[in-house]
Amino acid sequence: MKLLNMDPRIGELAKRLAEADQAHLLQFWPELSPTEQNSLILDMEGMDFQEINGFFKSAMETTSCSKQEKMDTRMEPVPRDVLGSVTKDRDCLKAWERLGLECIAQNKVAVLLLAGGQGTRLGVSYPKGMYDVGLPSHKTLFQIQAERILKLQQLAEKEQKPKCCIPWYIMTSGRTMEATKDFFSRHDNFGLDKKNIVFFQQGMLPAMDYNGKIILESKGKLSMAPDGNGGLYRALGNQGIMDDLERRGIEFIHVYCVDNILVKVADPVFVGFCVEKEADCGAKVVEKTNPTEAVGVVCKVDGCYQVVEYSEITLATAQKRSPDGRLMFNAGNVANHFFSFSFLRDVVHKYEPQLQHHVAQKKIPYVDAKGQLISPDKPNGIKMEKFVFDIFQFSKKFVVYEVLREDEFSPLKNADRQDGKDTPTTARHALTSLHHRWVLNAGGHFIDENGRRVPAIPSLKDGTDLPIKCEISPLVSYGGEGLEELVGGRDFRPTLIIDEDGVHELVKNGI
Ligand code: UTP
Repeated sequence: MKLLNMDPRIGELAKRLAEADQAHLLQFWPELSPTEQNSLILDMEGMDFQEINGFFKSAMETTSCSKQEKMDTRMEPVPRDVLGSVTKDRDCLKAWERLGLECIAQNKVAVLLLAGGQGTRLGVSYPKGMYDVGLPSHKTLFQIQAERILKLQQLAEKEQKPKCCIPWYIMTSGRTMEATKDFFSRHDNFGLDKKNIVFFQQGMLPAMDYNGKIILESKGKLSMAPDGNGGLYRALGNQGIMDDLERRGIEFIHVYCVDNILVKVADPVFVGFCVEKEADCGAKVVEKTNPTEAVGVVCKVDGCYQVVEYSEITLATAQKRSPDGRLMFNAGNVANHFFSFSFLRDVVHKYEPQLQHHVAQKKIPYVDAKGQLISPDKPNGIKMEKFVFDIFQFSKKFVVYEVLREDEFSPLKNADRQDGKDTPTTARHALTSLHHRWVLNAGGHFIDENGRRVPAIPSLKDGTDLPIKCEISPLVSYGGEGLEELVGGRDFRPTLIIDEDGVHELVKNGI
Protein backbone atom coordinates (compact mmCIF):
# COMPACT_ATOMS: atom_id res chain seq x y z
CA MET A 1 0.00 0.00 0.00
CA LYS A 2 2.65 2.48 -1.02
CA LEU A 3 0.06 4.99 -2.25
CA LEU A 4 -1.24 5.35 1.25
CA ASN A 5 1.64 7.62 2.01
CA MET A 6 0.44 10.21 -0.52
CA ASP A 7 -2.06 11.75 1.87
CA PRO A 8 -0.56 12.74 5.23
CA ARG A 9 -3.85 11.93 7.01
CA ILE A 10 -3.92 8.36 5.80
CA GLY A 11 -1.01 7.02 7.83
CA GLU A 12 -2.71 7.58 11.17
CA LEU A 13 -6.04 6.27 9.85
CA ALA A 14 -4.47 3.12 8.42
CA LYS A 15 -2.85 2.46 11.79
CA ARG A 16 -6.14 2.84 13.67
CA LEU A 17 -7.88 0.57 11.18
CA ALA A 18 -5.21 -2.10 11.47
CA GLU A 19 -5.39 -1.98 15.27
CA ALA A 20 -9.17 -2.45 15.10
CA ASP A 21 -8.90 -5.27 12.54
CA GLN A 22 -10.75 -3.18 9.93
CA ALA A 23 -7.85 -2.64 7.50
CA HIS A 24 -9.92 -4.08 4.62
CA LEU A 25 -11.72 -0.73 4.40
CA LEU A 26 -8.71 0.63 2.54
CA GLN A 27 -8.29 -2.32 0.19
CA PHE A 28 -9.52 -0.38 -2.87
CA TRP A 29 -7.71 2.85 -1.94
CA PRO A 30 -5.31 2.84 -4.91
CA GLU A 31 -8.27 2.56 -7.30
CA LEU A 32 -10.14 5.56 -5.90
CA SER A 33 -10.10 9.03 -7.44
CA PRO A 34 -8.69 11.87 -5.27
CA THR A 35 -12.26 13.04 -4.56
CA GLU A 36 -13.33 9.54 -3.49
CA GLN A 37 -10.22 9.19 -1.35
CA ASN A 38 -10.94 12.48 0.32
CA SER A 39 -14.54 11.61 1.07
CA LEU A 40 -13.56 8.18 2.46
CA ILE A 41 -11.07 9.84 4.80
CA LEU A 42 -13.68 12.38 5.90
CA ASP A 43 -16.20 9.59 6.59
CA MET A 44 -13.73 7.62 8.69
CA GLU A 45 -11.73 10.33 10.45
CA GLY A 46 -14.27 10.92 13.20
CA MET A 47 -15.04 7.24 13.76
CA ASP A 48 -13.93 5.37 16.85
CA PHE A 49 -13.37 1.86 15.48
CA GLN A 50 -12.56 0.33 18.86
CA GLU A 51 -15.84 1.65 20.22
CA ILE A 52 -17.73 0.29 17.20
CA ASN A 53 -16.10 -3.14 17.69
CA GLY A 54 -17.19 -2.99 21.34
CA PHE A 55 -20.79 -2.19 20.31
CA PHE A 56 -20.71 -5.16 17.92
CA LYS A 57 -19.42 -7.54 20.55
CA SER A 58 -21.91 -6.65 23.24
CA ALA A 59 -24.86 -6.39 20.83
CA MET A 60 -24.11 -9.91 19.51
CA GLU A 61 -23.68 -11.28 23.04
CA THR A 62 -26.97 -9.76 24.26
CA THR A 63 -28.81 -11.06 21.22
CA SER A 64 -27.56 -14.61 21.56
CA CYS A 65 -28.45 -14.66 25.29
CA SER A 66 -31.94 -13.27 24.73
CA LYS A 67 -32.56 -15.76 21.90
CA GLN A 68 -32.02 -18.65 24.26
CA GLU A 69 -34.25 -17.51 27.03
CA LYS A 70 -37.88 -16.45 26.75
CA MET A 71 -39.07 -13.70 29.09
CA ASP A 72 -42.33 -15.32 30.17
CA THR A 73 -41.61 -16.19 33.76
CA ARG A 74 -40.11 -12.78 34.54
CA MET A 75 -43.02 -10.70 33.18
CA GLU A 76 -45.90 -8.96 34.95
CA PRO A 77 -48.60 -6.82 33.32
CA VAL A 78 -48.87 -3.08 34.00
CA PRO A 79 -50.58 -2.65 37.41
CA ARG A 80 -53.86 -0.72 37.43
CA ASP A 81 -52.53 1.99 39.76
CA VAL A 82 -50.07 3.32 37.17
CA LEU A 83 -52.52 3.00 34.31
CA GLY A 84 -54.70 5.83 32.97
CA SER A 85 -57.27 5.06 30.34
CA VAL A 86 -59.23 7.20 27.96
CA THR A 87 -62.18 4.83 28.33
CA LYS A 88 -61.99 3.83 32.01
CA ASP A 89 -61.12 7.24 33.43
CA ARG A 90 -63.63 9.37 31.54
CA ASP A 91 -64.37 11.49 34.61
CA CYS A 92 -60.74 12.60 34.86
CA LEU A 93 -60.10 13.53 31.23
CA LYS A 94 -61.27 17.16 31.44
CA ALA A 95 -59.13 17.85 34.50
CA TRP A 96 -56.06 16.23 32.90
CA GLU A 97 -56.64 18.26 29.76
CA ARG A 98 -56.89 21.50 31.74
CA LEU A 99 -53.67 20.71 33.58
CA GLY A 100 -51.91 19.85 30.31
CA LEU A 101 -53.07 23.11 28.69
CA GLU A 102 -51.93 25.02 31.74
CA CYS A 103 -48.43 23.53 31.43
CA ILE A 104 -48.40 24.39 27.71
CA ALA A 105 -49.57 27.94 28.43
CA GLN A 106 -46.70 28.32 30.89
CA ASN A 107 -44.22 27.30 28.16
CA LYS A 108 -43.22 24.17 30.05
CA VAL A 109 -43.96 21.65 27.29
CA ALA A 110 -41.84 20.76 24.24
CA VAL A 111 -42.36 18.17 21.55
CA LEU A 112 -39.63 16.00 20.16
CA LEU A 113 -40.07 14.31 16.82
CA LEU A 114 -38.15 11.17 15.85
CA ALA A 115 -37.59 11.58 12.14
CA GLY A 116 -34.19 10.06 11.47
CA GLY A 117 -35.41 6.75 10.03
CA GLN A 118 -34.73 5.68 6.48
CA GLY A 119 -38.29 4.61 5.65
CA THR A 120 -36.98 1.61 3.73
CA ARG A 121 -40.29 -0.24 3.75
CA LEU A 122 -42.19 2.75 2.37
CA GLY A 123 -39.56 2.91 -0.32
CA VAL A 124 -39.33 6.63 -0.98
CA SER A 125 -36.05 8.46 -1.34
CA TYR A 126 -37.08 11.45 0.78
CA PRO A 127 -37.92 11.76 4.52
CA LYS A 128 -41.21 10.13 5.52
CA GLY A 129 -42.57 13.36 7.02
CA MET A 130 -42.67 14.79 3.49
CA TYR A 131 -45.07 12.06 2.38
CA ASP A 132 -48.53 12.96 1.07
CA VAL A 133 -50.91 10.07 1.77
CA GLY A 134 -53.47 11.49 -0.67
CA LEU A 135 -55.79 13.49 1.59
CA PRO A 136 -58.07 15.95 -0.20
CA SER A 137 -55.77 18.77 1.03
CA HIS A 138 -52.62 16.85 0.08
CA LYS A 139 -51.04 17.92 3.36
CA THR A 140 -47.87 16.06 4.30
CA LEU A 141 -47.27 14.43 7.68
CA PHE A 142 -44.98 17.32 8.66
CA GLN A 143 -47.66 19.90 7.82
CA ILE A 144 -50.36 18.04 9.76
CA GLN A 145 -48.11 17.91 12.84
CA ALA A 146 -47.08 21.57 12.52
CA GLU A 147 -50.72 22.67 12.31
CA ARG A 148 -51.64 20.60 15.37
CA ILE A 149 -48.91 22.43 17.29
CA LEU A 150 -50.21 25.80 16.08
CA LYS A 151 -53.77 24.93 17.10
CA LEU A 152 -52.74 23.63 20.49
CA GLN A 153 -50.83 26.82 21.21
CA GLN A 154 -54.03 28.75 20.47
CA LEU A 155 -56.12 26.49 22.70
CA ALA A 156 -53.66 26.91 25.56
CA GLU A 157 -53.57 30.68 25.08
CA LYS A 158 -57.38 30.83 25.13
CA GLU A 159 -57.43 29.05 28.44
CA GLN A 160 -54.62 31.07 30.00
CA LYS A 161 -54.33 34.31 28.00
CA PRO A 162 -50.58 35.03 27.57
CA LYS A 163 -48.94 34.00 24.31
CA CYS A 164 -47.17 30.67 24.51
CA CYS A 165 -45.08 28.38 22.38
CA ILE A 166 -44.43 24.67 22.11
CA PRO A 167 -40.85 24.30 20.85
CA TRP A 168 -40.50 21.54 18.29
CA TYR A 169 -37.25 19.53 18.37
CA ILE A 170 -36.81 17.47 15.24
CA MET A 171 -34.30 14.64 15.23
CA THR A 172 -33.02 13.84 11.76
CA SER A 173 -30.13 11.73 10.58
CA GLY A 174 -27.41 11.96 7.96
CA ARG A 175 -30.05 10.50 5.63
CA THR A 176 -32.82 13.02 6.33
CA MET A 177 -31.30 16.26 7.68
CA GLU A 178 -30.79 18.37 4.56
CA ALA A 179 -34.04 17.38 2.84
CA THR A 180 -36.05 17.97 6.04
CA LYS A 181 -34.60 21.41 6.72
CA ASP A 182 -35.03 22.41 3.13
CA PHE A 183 -38.67 21.23 3.13
CA PHE A 184 -39.48 23.29 6.22
CA SER A 185 -37.85 26.37 4.84
CA ARG A 186 -39.61 26.02 1.46
CA HIS A 187 -42.94 25.85 3.34
CA ASP A 188 -42.18 28.79 5.59
CA ASN A 189 -42.11 26.43 8.59
CA PHE A 190 -45.84 25.85 8.10
CA GLY A 191 -46.66 29.06 9.96
CA LEU A 192 -44.57 28.26 13.04
CA ASP A 193 -41.92 30.60 14.35
CA LYS A 194 -38.54 29.50 13.00
CA LYS A 195 -36.79 30.08 16.32
CA ASN A 196 -39.00 27.47 17.97
CA ILE A 197 -38.06 24.68 15.56
CA VAL A 198 -34.75 23.05 16.41
CA PHE A 199 -33.27 20.44 14.06
CA PHE A 200 -30.59 18.12 15.31
CA GLN A 201 -28.90 15.04 13.99
CA GLN A 202 -28.59 11.55 15.44
CA GLY A 203 -25.53 9.41 14.92
CA MET A 204 -24.84 6.81 12.27
CA LEU A 205 -23.18 3.42 12.65
CA PRO A 206 -21.65 1.14 10.06
CA ALA A 207 -23.31 -2.11 9.04
CA MET A 208 -21.14 -5.12 9.90
CA ASP A 209 -20.88 -8.68 8.71
CA TYR A 210 -21.29 -11.55 11.15
CA ASN A 211 -17.54 -11.52 11.85
CA GLY A 212 -17.58 -7.91 12.95
CA LYS A 213 -16.06 -6.51 9.76
CA ILE A 214 -17.49 -3.19 8.59
CA ILE A 215 -19.21 -3.53 5.23
CA LEU A 216 -18.21 -1.44 2.21
CA GLU A 217 -21.22 -0.45 0.09
CA SER A 218 -18.90 0.64 -2.69
CA LYS A 219 -15.12 0.66 -3.07
CA GLY A 220 -14.86 4.06 -1.41
CA LYS A 221 -17.89 4.15 0.88
CA LEU A 222 -18.84 2.45 4.13
CA SER A 223 -22.38 1.11 4.52
CA MET A 224 -23.83 3.41 7.18
CA ALA A 225 -27.25 3.59 8.85
CA PRO A 226 -28.78 5.75 11.60
CA ASP A 227 -28.22 4.25 15.06
CA GLY A 228 -31.93 3.70 15.83
CA ASN A 229 -34.47 6.04 17.39
CA GLY A 230 -32.76 5.45 20.75
CA GLY A 231 -29.80 7.30 19.21
CA LEU A 232 -31.87 10.20 20.49
CA TYR A 233 -30.22 10.21 23.91
CA ARG A 234 -26.66 10.48 22.71
CA ALA A 235 -27.66 13.13 20.17
CA LEU A 236 -29.50 15.19 22.81
CA GLY A 237 -26.26 15.41 24.76
CA ASN A 238 -23.74 15.98 22.01
CA GLN A 239 -25.85 18.41 19.96
CA GLY A 240 -26.55 20.81 22.82
CA ILE A 241 -30.28 20.06 22.93
CA MET A 242 -30.45 19.51 26.69
CA ASP A 243 -28.99 22.99 27.17
CA ASP A 244 -31.56 24.46 24.82
CA LEU A 245 -34.42 22.74 26.68
CA GLU A 246 -33.07 24.03 29.98
CA ARG A 247 -32.59 27.56 28.68
CA ARG A 248 -36.24 27.63 27.61
CA GLY A 249 -37.41 26.32 30.99
CA ILE A 250 -38.97 23.17 29.54
CA GLU A 251 -40.19 20.74 32.20
CA PHE A 252 -42.06 18.15 30.14
CA ILE A 253 -41.26 16.59 26.79
CA HIS A 254 -43.54 14.66 24.48
CA VAL A 255 -41.66 12.33 22.14
CA TYR A 256 -43.31 10.75 19.09
CA CYS A 257 -42.67 9.17 15.69
CA VAL A 258 -43.05 10.92 12.38
CA ASP A 259 -45.13 8.22 10.74
CA ASN A 260 -48.30 8.19 12.88
CA ILE A 261 -50.83 10.29 10.97
CA LEU A 262 -53.17 10.42 13.99
CA VAL A 263 -50.55 11.54 16.53
CA LYS A 264 -51.83 14.02 19.09
CA VAL A 265 -48.73 16.14 19.28
CA ALA A 266 -48.18 17.36 22.89
CA ASP A 267 -51.55 15.79 23.78
CA PRO A 268 -52.67 17.90 26.76
CA VAL A 269 -54.65 15.02 28.29
CA PHE A 270 -51.63 12.71 28.25
CA VAL A 271 -49.35 15.48 29.52
CA GLY A 272 -51.83 16.40 32.26
CA PHE A 273 -52.21 12.76 33.31
CA CYS A 274 -48.43 12.29 33.58
CA VAL A 275 -47.96 15.58 35.43
CA GLU A 276 -50.75 14.82 37.89
CA LYS A 277 -49.20 11.43 38.62
CA GLU A 278 -45.81 13.12 39.06
CA ALA A 279 -44.39 10.69 36.52
CA ASP A 280 -40.84 10.98 35.25
CA CYS A 281 -41.61 8.78 32.26
CA GLY A 282 -44.86 7.76 30.56
CA ALA A 283 -45.87 5.60 27.62
CA LYS A 284 -49.01 5.91 25.56
CA VAL A 285 -50.31 2.50 24.54
CA VAL A 286 -53.13 1.00 22.50
CA GLU A 287 -54.82 -2.26 23.31
CA LYS A 288 -53.24 -5.29 21.70
CA THR A 289 -56.18 -7.55 20.85
CA ASN A 290 -54.60 -10.21 18.68
CA PRO A 291 -52.08 -12.42 20.54
CA THR A 292 -49.89 -12.85 17.46
CA GLU A 293 -49.80 -9.19 16.42
CA ALA A 294 -46.14 -8.19 16.08
CA VAL A 295 -46.28 -5.27 18.46
CA GLY A 296 -44.12 -4.81 21.57
CA VAL A 297 -45.98 -4.70 24.88
CA VAL A 298 -45.19 -2.50 27.85
CA CYS A 299 -44.88 -4.59 31.00
CA LYS A 300 -42.64 -5.19 34.01
CA VAL A 301 -39.69 -7.55 33.73
CA ASP A 302 -37.96 -8.41 37.00
CA GLY A 303 -39.75 -5.41 38.48
CA CYS A 304 -38.60 -2.86 35.86
CA TYR A 305 -40.66 -1.43 33.03
CA GLN A 306 -39.70 -2.54 29.57
CA VAL A 307 -41.12 -3.19 26.11
CA VAL A 308 -41.18 -6.89 25.31
CA GLU A 309 -41.37 -7.91 21.68
CA TYR A 310 -43.71 -10.65 20.53
CA SER A 311 -40.70 -12.76 19.51
CA GLU A 312 -39.37 -12.71 23.09
CA ILE A 313 -42.32 -14.58 24.61
CA THR A 314 -44.06 -17.88 24.02
CA LEU A 315 -47.40 -18.07 22.25
CA ALA A 316 -48.99 -19.37 25.46
CA THR A 317 -48.03 -16.17 27.31
CA ALA A 318 -49.09 -13.97 24.40
CA GLN A 319 -52.50 -15.68 24.53
CA LYS A 320 -53.04 -15.38 28.31
CA ARG A 321 -56.19 -13.48 29.23
CA SER A 322 -57.26 -11.49 32.29
CA PRO A 323 -60.61 -12.15 33.99
CA ASP A 324 -62.16 -9.31 31.91
CA GLY A 325 -61.38 -11.28 28.73
CA ARG A 326 -58.68 -8.90 27.46
CA LEU A 327 -55.17 -10.12 26.76
CA MET A 328 -53.09 -10.05 29.93
CA PHE A 329 -50.14 -8.41 28.10
CA ASN A 330 -52.12 -5.96 26.04
CA ALA A 331 -50.34 -2.60 26.46
CA GLY A 332 -49.25 -2.18 22.83
CA ASN A 333 -46.34 0.24 22.58
CA VAL A 334 -46.77 2.99 19.98
CA ALA A 335 -43.49 4.89 20.59
CA ASN A 336 -45.29 7.89 22.07
CA HIS A 337 -43.72 8.99 25.33
CA PHE A 338 -43.66 11.59 28.07
CA PHE A 339 -40.43 12.51 29.86
CA SER A 340 -39.82 14.97 32.65
CA PHE A 341 -36.84 17.19 31.92
CA SER A 342 -34.93 15.93 34.96
CA PHE A 343 -35.43 12.29 33.95
CA LEU A 344 -34.26 13.02 30.42
CA ARG A 345 -31.23 14.85 31.79
CA ASP A 346 -30.31 11.84 33.94
CA VAL A 347 -30.75 9.51 30.99
CA VAL A 348 -28.57 11.62 28.72
CA HIS A 349 -25.82 12.30 31.25
CA LYS A 350 -25.84 9.14 33.38
CA TYR A 351 -27.60 6.17 31.86
CA GLU A 352 -27.06 6.44 28.10
CA PRO A 353 -23.74 4.55 28.05
CA GLN A 354 -25.47 1.59 29.73
CA LEU A 355 -27.87 1.14 26.80
CA GLN A 356 -27.13 -1.85 24.58
CA HIS A 357 -27.58 -1.88 20.83
CA HIS A 358 -30.13 -4.27 19.39
CA VAL A 359 -29.21 -6.31 16.37
CA ALA A 360 -31.24 -6.20 13.16
CA GLN A 361 -30.21 -8.83 10.63
CA LYS A 362 -30.42 -7.36 7.14
CA LYS A 363 -29.60 -8.00 3.51
CA ILE A 364 -26.84 -5.47 3.04
CA PRO A 365 -25.43 -4.78 -0.44
CA TYR A 366 -21.62 -4.97 -0.38
CA VAL A 367 -18.49 -5.06 -2.52
CA ASP A 368 -16.66 -8.35 -2.29
CA ALA A 369 -12.88 -8.81 -2.18
CA LYS A 370 -12.75 -8.64 -6.00
CA GLY A 371 -14.57 -5.32 -5.99
CA GLN A 372 -17.85 -6.74 -7.32
CA LEU A 373 -21.09 -5.20 -6.02
CA ILE A 374 -23.26 -7.96 -4.53
CA SER A 375 -26.94 -7.69 -3.55
CA PRO A 376 -27.47 -10.64 -1.21
CA ASP A 377 -30.77 -12.53 -1.22
CA LYS A 378 -30.53 -13.49 2.44
CA PRO A 379 -29.30 -11.57 5.48
CA ASN A 380 -25.52 -11.22 5.42
CA GLY A 381 -24.90 -8.82 8.25
CA ILE A 382 -26.31 -6.61 10.96
CA LYS A 383 -27.29 -3.07 11.67
CA MET A 384 -27.07 -1.91 15.27
CA GLU A 385 -29.82 0.18 16.78
CA LYS A 386 -30.91 1.54 20.15
CA PHE A 387 -34.61 2.03 20.81
CA VAL A 388 -36.29 5.06 22.31
CA PHE A 389 -38.03 2.90 24.93
CA ASP A 390 -34.79 1.29 26.18
CA ILE A 391 -34.69 3.83 29.00
CA PHE A 392 -37.95 2.84 30.73
CA GLN A 393 -35.86 0.69 33.07
CA PHE A 394 -34.36 3.83 34.67
CA SER A 395 -37.70 5.43 35.53
CA LYS A 396 -38.58 5.89 39.18
CA LYS A 397 -42.21 6.83 38.54
CA PHE A 398 -43.48 5.22 35.38
CA VAL A 399 -47.04 5.55 34.09
CA VAL A 400 -48.97 4.12 31.18
CA TYR A 401 -51.84 5.80 29.35
CA GLU A 402 -54.15 3.72 27.20
CA VAL A 403 -55.90 5.34 24.23
CA LEU A 404 -58.09 4.08 21.41
CA ARG A 405 -56.16 2.85 18.42
CA GLU A 406 -58.76 4.17 15.94
CA ASP A 407 -58.44 7.65 17.43
CA GLU A 408 -54.69 7.90 17.85
CA PHE A 409 -52.57 5.36 16.03
CA SER A 410 -52.18 4.65 12.34
CA PRO A 411 -48.53 4.45 11.33
CA LEU A 412 -47.27 4.74 7.77
CA LYS A 413 -44.74 1.95 7.29
CA ASN A 414 -45.30 0.23 3.94
CA ALA A 415 -45.99 1.14 0.34
CA ASP A 416 -49.52 0.60 -0.94
CA ARG A 417 -50.56 -2.86 -2.02
CA GLN A 418 -53.81 -4.81 -1.96
CA ASP A 419 -54.94 -5.36 1.66
CA GLY A 420 -51.65 -3.93 2.92
CA LYS A 421 -51.10 -2.99 6.57
CA ASP A 422 -49.89 0.46 7.64
CA THR A 423 -49.91 1.92 4.14
CA PRO A 424 -50.74 5.37 2.71
CA THR A 425 -54.29 4.10 2.11
CA THR A 426 -54.81 2.84 5.68
CA ALA A 427 -53.36 6.10 7.05
CA ARG A 428 -55.64 8.21 4.85
CA HIS A 429 -58.68 6.14 5.79
CA ALA A 430 -57.83 6.33 9.49
CA LEU A 431 -57.73 10.12 9.39
CA THR A 432 -60.87 10.60 7.29
CA SER A 433 -62.79 8.08 9.46
CA LEU A 434 -61.75 9.95 12.59
CA HIS A 435 -62.89 13.25 11.08
CA HIS A 436 -66.16 11.64 9.98
CA ARG A 437 -66.77 10.62 13.60
CA TRP A 438 -65.94 14.15 14.80
CA VAL A 439 -68.63 15.55 12.49
CA LEU A 440 -71.20 13.01 13.73
CA ASN A 441 -70.29 13.75 17.37
CA ALA A 442 -70.76 17.46 16.72
CA GLY A 443 -74.29 16.84 15.41
CA GLY A 444 -73.61 16.82 11.65
CA HIS A 445 -74.75 14.15 9.18
CA PHE A 446 -73.72 12.83 5.81
CA ILE A 447 -76.10 12.18 2.93
CA ASP A 448 -75.63 10.16 -0.24
CA GLU A 449 -76.25 11.29 -3.81
CA ASN A 450 -79.99 10.58 -3.34
CA GLY A 451 -80.15 12.83 -0.31
CA ARG A 452 -80.50 9.87 2.10
CA ARG A 453 -78.66 9.93 5.41
CA VAL A 454 -75.60 7.68 5.34
CA PRO A 455 -75.61 5.31 8.34
CA ALA A 456 -72.99 6.16 10.95
CA ILE A 457 -71.39 2.75 10.53
CA PRO A 458 -70.55 2.24 6.86
CA SER A 459 -72.11 -0.81 5.20
CA LEU A 460 -69.85 -3.62 4.11
CA LYS A 461 -72.04 -4.69 1.20
CA ASP A 462 -71.11 -3.83 -2.39
CA GLY A 463 -67.63 -2.88 -1.32
CA THR A 464 -69.02 0.43 -0.05
CA ASP A 465 -67.13 0.16 3.20
CA LEU A 466 -64.78 2.93 2.15
CA PRO A 467 -64.79 5.69 4.71
CA ILE A 468 -66.64 8.90 4.03
CA LYS A 469 -64.24 11.46 2.62
CA CYS A 470 -64.01 14.13 5.24
CA GLU A 471 -61.00 16.18 6.25
CA ILE A 472 -60.84 18.76 8.99
CA SER A 473 -57.84 21.03 9.13
CA PRO A 474 -55.93 20.87 12.43
CA LEU A 475 -56.06 24.67 12.32
CA VAL A 476 -59.82 24.35 12.90
CA SER A 477 -59.87 21.50 15.41
CA TYR A 478 -57.09 19.74 17.32
CA GLY A 479 -59.09 16.85 18.72
CA GLY A 480 -62.70 17.24 17.55
CA GLU A 481 -63.46 20.33 19.64
CA GLY A 482 -65.22 23.44 18.38
CA LEU A 483 -67.13 21.84 15.51
CA GLU A 484 -70.71 22.11 16.79
CA GLU A 485 -71.25 25.62 15.44
CA LEU A 486 -69.92 24.61 12.04
CA VAL A 487 -71.69 21.31 11.49
CA GLY A 488 -74.44 20.89 14.13
CA GLY A 489 -77.78 19.90 12.55
CA ARG A 490 -76.43 20.12 8.99
CA ASP A 491 -76.35 17.51 6.22
CA PHE A 492 -73.23 17.15 4.10
CA ARG A 493 -72.40 15.44 0.87
CA PRO A 494 -68.86 14.05 0.82
CA THR A 495 -66.19 15.10 0.15
CA LEU A 496 -66.44 17.46 3.12
CA ILE A 497 -63.54 19.80 3.86
CA ILE A 498 -63.44 22.05 6.88
CA ASP A 499 -60.55 24.49 6.95
CA GLU A 500 -59.72 28.08 7.96
CA ASP A 501 -61.81 29.33 5.02
CA GLY A 502 -64.96 27.53 6.16
CA VAL A 503 -66.96 24.43 5.35
CA HIS A 504 -66.86 23.15 1.76
CA GLU A 505 -68.38 20.24 -0.07
CA LEU A 506 -66.36 19.15 -3.08
CA VAL A 507 -68.31 17.75 -5.97
CA LYS A 508 -67.42 14.23 -7.14
CA ASN A 509 -64.46 14.16 -9.50
CA GLY A 510 -63.58 17.53 -8.13
CA ILE A 511 -60.64 16.13 -6.22
P1 UTP B 1 -39.13 2.61 12.12
O1 UTP B 1 -38.47 1.66 13.03
O2 UTP B 1 -40.49 2.26 11.66
O3 UTP B 1 -38.17 2.88 10.91
O4 UTP B 1 -39.13 4.01 12.83
P2 UTP B 1 -38.36 3.73 9.60
O5 UTP B 1 -37.06 4.30 9.27
O6 UTP B 1 -39.46 4.75 9.72
O7 UTP B 1 -38.80 2.68 8.51
P3 UTP B 1 -38.04 1.37 7.97
O8 UTP B 1 -37.93 0.43 9.15
O9 UTP B 1 -36.71 1.80 7.41
O10 UTP B 1 -38.99 0.89 6.92
C1 UTP B 1 -40.04 4.43 13.81
C2 UTP B 1 -39.75 5.90 14.07
O11 UTP B 1 -38.42 6.06 14.56
C3 UTP B 1 -37.71 6.97 13.73
C4 UTP B 1 -38.42 6.96 12.40
O12 UTP B 1 -38.15 8.16 11.68
C5 UTP B 1 -39.86 6.81 12.84
O13 UTP B 1 -40.39 8.04 13.27
N1 UTP B 1 -36.31 6.54 13.63
C6 UTP B 1 -36.00 5.27 13.27
C7 UTP B 1 -35.32 7.45 13.91
O14 UTP B 1 -35.60 8.62 14.24
N2 UTP B 1 -34.04 7.04 13.81
C8 UTP B 1 -33.69 5.78 13.47
O15 UTP B 1 -32.48 5.48 13.41
C9 UTP B 1 -34.69 4.86 13.19
